[in-house]
Amino acid sequence: MTDQPADATPDPRLDLPIVGIVGAGIMGSGIAQLALEAGHEVVMHDVDGPALGRARDRIADGLTRRATKVLDDPAGIDPWVAARIERLRSTEILEQLGDEADAVIEAVLESLELKRTIFRTLDSVADPDTILATNTSALSVGAIADATSHPDRVVGLHFFNPAPVMTLVEVVAGRRTSEAVVMRASELVRNWGRTPVHSADAPGFIVNRINRPFTIRALRLLEANAASIEAIDAAIRDAGFLLGPFELMDLTGIDVTFAASTGIWDSLRRPDRLRPSALQQARIEAGDLGRKTGAGFHRYEAGRRVEQPVDAAEEPRGLAADAIRDRILLPIVDEAYRALAEGVAAEADIDVALRLGAAHPIGPFERARELGGASAVAARLRELAADDPSLFPSDALVAAG
Ligand SMILES: NC(=O)c1ccc[n+]([C@@H]2O[C@H](COP(=O)([O-])OP(=O)(O)OC[C@H]3O[C@@H](n4cnc5c(N)ncnc54)[C@H](O)[C@@H]3O)[C@@H](O)[C@H]2O)c1
Repeated sequence: MTDQPADATPDPRLDLPIVGIVGAGIMGSGIAQLALEAGHEVVMHDVDGPALGRARDRIADGLTRRATKVLDDPAGIDPWVAARIERLRSTEILEQLGDEADAVIEAVLESLELKRTIFRTLDSVADPDTILATNTSALSVGAIADATSHPDRVVGLHFFNPAPVMTLVEVVAGRRTSEAVVMRASELVRNWGRTPVHSADAPGFIVNRINRPFTIRALRLLEANAASIEAIDAAIRDAGFLLGPFELMDLTGIDVTFAASTGIWDSLRRPDRLRPSALQQARIEAGDLGRKTGAGFHRYEAGRRVEQPVDAAEEPRGLAADAIRDRILLPIVDEAYRALAEGVAAEADIDVALRLGAAHPIGPFERARELGGASAVAARLRELAADDPSLFPSDALVAAG
């Protein structure tokens, strides 16, 4: 292209890797958009032809929104988008993508067998230097890598939804992933304006594991009728969170949250502290899945929240806001110390991950410091355990104090 405004043409660096995206759904299109924005050539594969067409439209819309934000001159928008979208190619042949791409990011549906089959195929056609990444939220990166003959080049790149908005990426090293591949994958996403954090290949990685108590402990308070849904949400919002736990579950989908909680709980060998709640199950059985069905823990009409929570049974006890916060936020601090002791991630990465990936106003270690250190948190949890033994502080937290 000639005679384009300076910022219409993607970075012409010849060494920019060609990015392959497998799976043209929500995550695949979001990740493709990021790669295109940064000037990469992108090859996208899906077995569903129409899905590839829909993804192209979604990406073009996303790029237009982005251009509207970053460009001062409205006349530059169309050329900016055109220069990027023309670098997107689609194929229904996985081998073709594997052959052409320098880095592949897989985002097909969450099935270990499917992902293993895809990685086996990619591995057989891709150059040995090609990075093979999976966007899995919950599967073991090592179990996917084991399907290949070069497991050292298989890595997790866990983007958050929506990928063009959420800046956190968990870079997950399987037991055989090479350090060089972790570094290259981190550099790639850093060049896309993302913030990579390093995680071990452990259940839920960093955010989905350490933030589990956010919803589980709120559900416990509700099970015990200690406070109303409204009071719990308000106490958490007042601590600087955008959404309370019940508002978040309604937004994510109670079914989706329950499946994630159950998966992580199972993988961690079913500790009582993270046991999913019968209250979630009851709502799922009733078809009240949250915003998407019009009712969950709150009720919605035309996408807007209306009236009080659904079926407020007997009058809740009215636990004070501070007490609510301690019972939800301190177990998150405890979970962070457990994960740190297990080698899931470094302290600084955990703090960044919870801030960027779960919109916490401060990270769990920052919170511990604010409260006077691990020993102060452990002392408070010991007090709370008088009512609920599953709140007892972990050995990891106690040892850190
Ligand atoms: N949605 C989220 O919030 C989120 C967040 C982080 C990670 N993830 C993970 O990202 C992955 C994709 O999730 P999603 O929400 O984008 O799913 P999605 O259902 O929107 O998209 C999945 C796509 O995979 C395609 N597909 C199915 N079988 C295929 C095959 N054999 N070969 C190629 N393509 C195939 C489907 O046609 C579909 O277009 C999952 O592993 C999920 O756990 C999802």
